[in-house]
Amino acid sequence: MKTIKQGWIKSIRTSKAITFVAVTDGAKDFQVTIIHDKCSVKGELKVGCSIEAEGSDSITPRGMYEFLASSLKVIGISDDTFPIQPKEHGDDFLRTIPELRGRAKKFQAIWKVRHHLTQEIHKFFDRQGFYLYTGALITTADCEGAGETFKVTSDWLDASLTVSSQLYGEVGARSLGKIYTFGPCFRAEKSATKKHLAEFTMVEPEISFFHLKDAIELSEQFVKRTIAGVISKSEYEFQQLGISSEHLLRVIQKEWKIVSYDEICETFGVKWGDDINSETEQKIVAYYDVPTFITHYPKQLKPFYMAGDDRVAYNFDLIFPEVGELIGGSERESSYEVLEKSMIEAGLGMERMAWYLNLRKWGSVPTSGFGLGFERLLMFITKASKIHDVIPFPVSF
Ligand code: 4AD
Ligand code: MG
Repeated sequence: MKTIKQGWIKSIRTSKAITFVAVTDGAKDFQVTIIHDKCSVKGELKVGCSIEAEGSDSITPRGMYEFLASSLKVIGISDDTFPIQPKEHGDDFLRTIPELRGRAKKFQAIWKVRHHLTQEIHKFFDRQGFYLYTGALITTADCEGAGETFKVTSDWLDASLTVSSQLYGEVGARSLGKIYTFGPCFRAEKSATKKHLAEFTMVEPEISFFHLKDAIELSEQFVKRTIAGVISKSEYEFQQLGISSEHLLRVIQKEWKIVSYDEICETFGVKWGDDINSETEQKIVAYYDVPTFITHYPKQLKPFYMAGDDRVAYNFDLIFPEVGELIGGSERESSYEVLEKSMIEAGLGMERMAWYLNLRKWGSVPTSGFGLGFERLLMFITKASKIHDVIPFPVSF
C-alpha cells in the first residue's frame, strides 16, 4: 500500500544504483531507500532539507524497517552550510545554535523526555486527587524573600516576575484542599553554574491539613512514580540518548534517607548555621548512597513563611546525586500572630502582603508543600551535563 512520509534528512549514503537517506519526522528516525531507476526525485537531496516521499513500507535484507520510495520531492532546500551535519557535535557548539540543536538526535530525545515527564507529573497528581492551580507570574509577593527578582514595570504597574507560586498555592490549598502549580519561575541571582537558570519550571504541590512528615512522604512517592512512568515511556528516547535506565532504577528501588540538619553538621563537619554547599551535598548522597532528605534547618537560613520552633524550621531539602537540591519544602506557619511577627521581622511590605496573612484569619489550617525543580529532575533523568541542555531556550546569567 502506498503511503506518504515526511521529514528532514539527517544523512545520505549513495552508490550507483541506490541511495539511502536517514530521515527523521521528529518522533522517529527511519531509512528512506531510493532505487534510482524506480524512483523519481525532485530537487537536490541535502542534509537538513525537508522532504516528502511516496512509497511503501519494506524490510531491508538485514531485517530493518525501510521506506521504499517511488517518488520523492524536496519541500525546503538545504545546503552544505547546514550546521548539524552527520558527525559528532560538541554540546558547547550546539548550545550556540538553540534554533537548530533540536534537530540533533540528543536534543530531539531530551525534548521528548521533557514531554513525557510533564505528562507523568500531571498524571500523578490527577490520580492522587490534586487540582492544577495557577498563581500570577507578575506579582508583588517576593516568596523567597531574597529580593533576587526581575522587575516588571510600566506606567501603571510596579511588580516582579514570580520566584515561586507557593504563596498563591496556599490560597489554592485552602480553596480546593490539594493543589499543585506547574509553571515558570524567575530568579535574577547571578549564579553561573551547571544547575541554575534564570527562567526555570517549578512544580509546587500544596496541601491542607498536612505536616512536614506528610510532605516528605508525598515527595518521595511523587518523584519515584514519575521517574518510573518516564522509564516506561522513554525506551526509544533513551536509546537515542545512548543511556540506560540503570541510574534511575537505582534511586527508585531503595528507600530514601531522612536526616536532620543537626546530624549533617556532626557527620560532615558543617558549622551550625551555615548553608550546605554543593560539594557537601554530593558527599552526603554518596555517603548514604540514596537521595537524602535534610530536615530542620536553622530558622535564620530559611524564609519567613516556614513553621518551626525558636531554633529550627520545619522544612526539608531533597538532595539528589549529580543535580544536588532537587526539592525544597516545608510546613507553613499557620498562626496569624506568629506569621505577622516574622513578616515584620523580614521587612515585608504589609500593605501588599496582607492577603497572605489574612489566610490565617478565617479557617486557618496547617498546610505543607514543596517545590521541585523540573529541569533538575530532567537533567538527572537524561544525564545531561548542564541544565541548559534540558530546556529548549535557556535563559541564565
Ligand atoms: O528551594 P526553592 O527556592 O523553594 C521555593 O521556592 C519554595 N517556595 C517551594 C515550595 O515550597 N513551594 O526552590 C525549589 C526548587 C529547588 O529545590 C530547585 O530544584 C529549583 O526549585 N530551583 C532552580 N532550578 C533551576 N534554576 C534555579 N535558579 C533554581 N532555583 C531553584
Ligand atoms: Mg531551596
